[in-house]
Amino acid sequence: MTVLVTGGGGYIGSHMILTLLDQKEDVVVIDNLVTGNRDAIPAGAQFIEGSLADTGLLNEIFCNHDISDVLHFAGSTSVPESVSDPLAYYRNNTANSLNLLEAMAAAGTGRMVFSSTAAVYKPGCPSPVSETDPVDPASPYGASKLMTERMISDMVATGRLRAGILRYFNVAGADPAGRAGQSTPNAAHLIKVACEAATGQRDSVTVFGTDWPTRDGTGVRDYIHVTDLVSAHLSMLRHLRDGGASLTLNCGYGQGFSVREVLHAVESRSKASIDVIESDRRPGDLAELIACADKLRERLGWHPEHADIDTIVGHALAWERRRV
Ligand SMILES: NC(=O)c1ccc[n+]([C@@H]2O[C@H](COP(=O)([O-])OP(=O)(O)OC[C@H]3O[C@@H](n4cnc5c(N)ncnc54)[C@H](O)[C@@H]3O)[C@@H](O)[C@H]2O)c1
Repeated sequence: MTVLVTGGGGYIGSHMILTLLDQKEDVVVIDNLVTGNRDAIPAGAQFIEGSLADTGLLNEIFCNHDISDVLHFAGSTSVPESVSDPLAYYRNNTANSLNLLEAMAAAGTGRMVFSSTAAVYKPGCPSPVSETDPVDPASPYGASKLMTERMISDMVATGRLRAGILRYFNVAGADPAGRAGQSTPNAAHLIKVACEAATGQRDSVTVFGTDWPTRDGTGVRDYIHVTDLVSAHLSMLRHLRDGGASLTLNCGYGQGFSVREVLHAVESRSKASIDVIESDRRPGDLAELIACADKLRERLGWHPEHADIDTIVGHALAWERRRV
C-alpha cells in the first residue's frame, strides 16, 4: 500500500510525511512548491514536482504507483487573498480537488483524508462549534473547501469512496523533535508571527480588534498542535483501512486562547518583548472560534499529547530559533 500525500512540501503535509515514514508507510508526494519547500519533504518519500492542475500527471501517478490512500493537503490557504482573488481559490482548491477525485475514481483508489477548515461554518455560530452546526462560509476560501467537501460526500454516496473530512481550527507548533516546522512564506498565523517577532525576524505584531466581546477584548481561537493534528489523520487513516465509515470531524482541543494570552505565552517563553500594534477589526473576523472536538475523541479514540499553549509555543519558538 502506498499513500499519496498532496501538498507534502507544506507545513502540515511535511509533518504528516514524517509520521507516515515513522510508521513504515510507502509515501509518494505531489507538490508544485507554490508555497511549499523542497527541503521540507522528508527523505524517504518519493517526491513528484507538479500540480494537481495537471490531470495527465495525476493519471500517470495513479498508474505508476499502487496508491491505496490519498491524504489531500494541497491548496491555497489565505482568507484575505481568497477575498481579493476568489476564482484562483475555486480553481486551486475546488477544481484541482475535482481533478484529484477523478484520477482516484479512474484508478479505483477508494480512501481519502481531506484538509478542510473551520472557515466552512456560518459566522456567528456560538462556540464551541460542532459538526452539526450550520455551514455558510464567509470567505471564498471557506466556500472553496466546502464545495470540495460536497464533491467528496457525493462520491462517498456512490459507494466508490470512503473519506475523512477533517475541519481544522488554528494549527500551530512544530515537530517536537525539531525535524519540521512552518516555513510557509508570508504565513499570517498568530503563533508563528509572534515567534518571528520574538526572534527578531519581524518588528511587530498587529492585533486586529481590541474591542471584541471577549475576556480581554481580543479574538479567541482554538490552537491545535500540528503533531496532534497529524495523529488525528493517522487515526482516521486506520479507521478507514479497518472498514470504518466516512466521517466529518472538527480538529481542535475545545479550549480557546485570546490574542493577548498567546502573545504573553510567547513573551514568557522567549524572554523577549514583542512590539504590538493595535488595529481595527478586519471584516469577516470573529470574536471567538472554538471547536467542539468530542466526536474526534469518541469516533477515533484520539488522545492529543500537546494540548497546552506553552508546549505549542515552545515548539514553534524552537523552530523559529533554528531559522534565524
Ligand atoms: N494551517 C492551518 O491553520 C490550516 C487550517 C485549516 C485548514 N488548513 C488546510 O490544510 C492544508 C495544508 O495547509 P498548510 O498550512 O500546510 O499550507 P501550506 O501552504 O504550507 O501547504 C500547502 C501545500 O500545497 C502545495 N500546493 C498548493 N497548490 C498546489 C497544487 N495545485 N498542486 C500541488 N501542490 C500544491 C503548496 O506548494 C504547499 O506545499 C490546506 O489545504 C489548508 O487549507 C490549514
